[in-house]
Amino acid sequence: MRVVKVPLGNRSYSILIGPGLLSRLGAACQRLQLGTRCAIITDTNVGRRFAQPVFESLVKAGFAPSLIVVPAGETAKSLRTAQACYDQLAVHRLERKSFIVALGGGVVGDLAGFVAATYLRGIAFVQVPTTLLAQVDSSVGGKVGVNLKAGKNLVGAFYQPRLVLCDLDTLKTLPDREFRAGLAEVIKYGIIRDARLFARLERDLPKLLKREPKVLADVVARCCEIKATVVGKDETESGLRAILNFGHTIGHALEAISRYGKYLHGEAISIGQVAAAKLSTTLLDLSAGEVRRIITLFERAGLPTIVRLTPAQRARAFAAMRLDKKVRGGEIKFVLAKRIGRVEFGCKVPPKLIDQVLSDSAFCIPHTEF
Ligand SMILES: NC(=O)c1ccc[n+]([C@@H]2O[C@H](COP(=O)([O-])OP(=O)(O)OC[C@H]3O[C@@H](n4cnc5c(N)ncnc54)[C@H](O)[C@@H]3O)[C@@H](O)[C@H]2O)c1
Ligand SMILES: [Zn+2]
Repeated sequence: MRVVKVPLGNRSYSILIGPGLLSRLGAACQRLQLGTRCAIITDTNVGRRFAQPVFESLVKAGFAPSLIVVPAGETAKSLRTAQACYDQLAVHRLERKSFIVALGGGVVGDLAGFVAATYLRGIAFVQVPTTLLAQVDSSVGGKVGVNLKAGKNLVGAFYQPRLVLCDLDTLKTLPDREFRAGLAEVIKYGIIRDARLFARLERDLPKLLKREPKVLADVVARCCEIKATVVGKDETESGLRAILNFGHTIGHALEAISRYGKYLHGEAISIGQVAAAKLSTTLLDLSAGEVRRIITLFERAGLPTIVRLTPAQRARAFAAMRLDKKVRGGEIKFVLAKRIGRVEFGCKVPPKLIDQVLSDSAFCIPHTEF
């Protein structure tokens, strides 16, 4: 088992990574000095597979868990579902010392974390992420929330879990498309912070796609380390944490204009990262060779890299970018790459260039250097 620490003073916590960890959840929770009562919040897909071992592990360690199952899918990340969870928590008489276990992907993690942050003005919660995206990204760092009709994640909080437990065995049942979508965030960590990770992904991608345990463990642990370091330095995104949004400005806009139907999050940010890399050649001198390496890695991971929007779609994408939470004073700011492993945030990009990159896949990469 690997252990990564998220350094946040008296709110610091550990991320445990390894195979066969679900059965050790109860023992790990014992060390946190939590109350006896707890609730496992999960979704229909995940609950069917993993609720039982989690439940049994908690009972064995002396806890009294109840089970709350929400529908699978993004629509469950709503105030309506949160309300249904609160009602269940009240029925099961959870108290201030009680805690919530979020068992599932990013949807369950964000929802259950939000419920924990608000029920009785905040009770403890533990993340047990079961998708690759949730293990390397959403379960770490304390962003919790739900969606509104007007947009994603518009209601929420910064609320850190007490523990994150990544059981790599749970990834065995994850559908291929979901696994590949998670790889988009994995590749992102290489681009923003770790050229060696990026090179390793280039080398070991076939093994990773086969979900080989050793490579998977190394890669998940490294991504968690990077996220933990960034969050430790800037928990509430007043600066550095913005680098985690590499590829997300355009990615979120694509998700919004396709009404969260066409692309999975990872697929949208794959296109967004390639677009940001292309913009970086013009604005920050990222070399054409490095852009090519970035495109090739996303392609090999089976992720989309190109989008060609019509003028009407581009107008809608711009409108969506302006609505993004990260926009300040109406200016759309980008994270751009200086080279693989190094990015800058808060970069202004002329709207004309954004427009071009959304309409033309051959945008401004000088072909001579390939
Ligand atoms: N809080 C953050 O910092 C943060 C960061 C990134 C993304 N997010 C959020 O995460 C959400 C996306 O998360 P996601 O990609 O994990 O999606 P998800 O939670 O919807 O899971 C994807 C699908 O896989 C199923 N599933 C989960 N684990 C499984 C397993 N082990 N085996 C089989 N099926 C399994 C789920 O039931 C679901 O149908 C979005 O709402 C996004 O906004 C949050
Ligand atoms: Zn993301």
